[in-house]
Amino acid sequence: MNQYSNRMVIMHWLTLVLMIAAWFLGEEVHDARKAEAGATVAGYVAHALAGAAVLLLTVLRLAFRKADGVPAPIGRSTMDKIATGVHHSLYLLLFLLPVSGMVQVMTSDVGKAILAGDATLLPRKFDGVMAHEVHEILVTVVILLVGVHVLGALKHQFVLKDGLLKRMWFK
Ligand code: HEM
Ligand code: HEM
Repeated sequence: MNQYSNRMVIMHWLTLVLMIAAWFLGEEVHDARKAEAGATVAGYVAHALAGAAVLLLTVLRLAFRKADGVPAPIGRSTMDKIATGVHHSLYLLLFLLPVSGMVQVMTSDVGKAILAGDATLLPRKFDGVMAHEVHEILVTVVILLVGVHVLGALKHQFVLKDGLLKRMWFK
């Protein structure tokens, strides 16, 4: 086995698309809340749905990973071991990021506003909501780790030229 299974490949690239959507919607909601007009309930719901879809895909993906297996690491150098560590940390973040978002909704007035469908109940500030800080920190951490991950993939593609990207593409 020198490639991921097709369904693992679908999960990987679909997660990338959903992460971009969730990140964009999260920034939009954040900016709207700070602006004069304020955020909308629909904005929060759209962001939460994109984030929840990431969580669902991650659960499915780990089940597929267990069932289908993964190709052996491409090498045994320290950099290869770091890459595996980055992969494991990314999986952890794909769990913690959506979960912290959900806790944020449940422990702030966002939850009440969504249930009532009333934007006037939305908070202007998240003072004392720990999950808000945690969610923001995890967003920064995931951006940094994905950056390292993509740089590694580019190095394999253009410097080492060992065809690593093909491992994460359809058979
Ligand atoms: C992979 C999943 C997710 C990503 C990438 C993501 C990303 C983001 C980003 C970029 C922000 C703006 C941070 C800032 O600058 O303040 C944000 C805020 C937020 N997210 Fe998420 N998020 C995810 C999942 C979720 C989920 C599942 C929920 C809820 C069920 C959620 C609820 C929130 C809330 C309530 C805010 C605060 C928005 C505000 O500042 O008014 N997030 N998220
Ligand atoms: C343009 C963006 C991306 C590129 C080019 C890329 C490329 C790759 C490649 C080539 C692999 C296979 C590595 C190997 O065979 O050792 C891989 C694996 C992986 N990628 Fe990405 N990736 C991208 C975005 C992402 C994002 C956004 C995430 C999650 C937030 C992610 C999470 C992972 C994980 C967890 C693995 C390990 C898979 C496993 O062993 O189960 N990737 N990626």
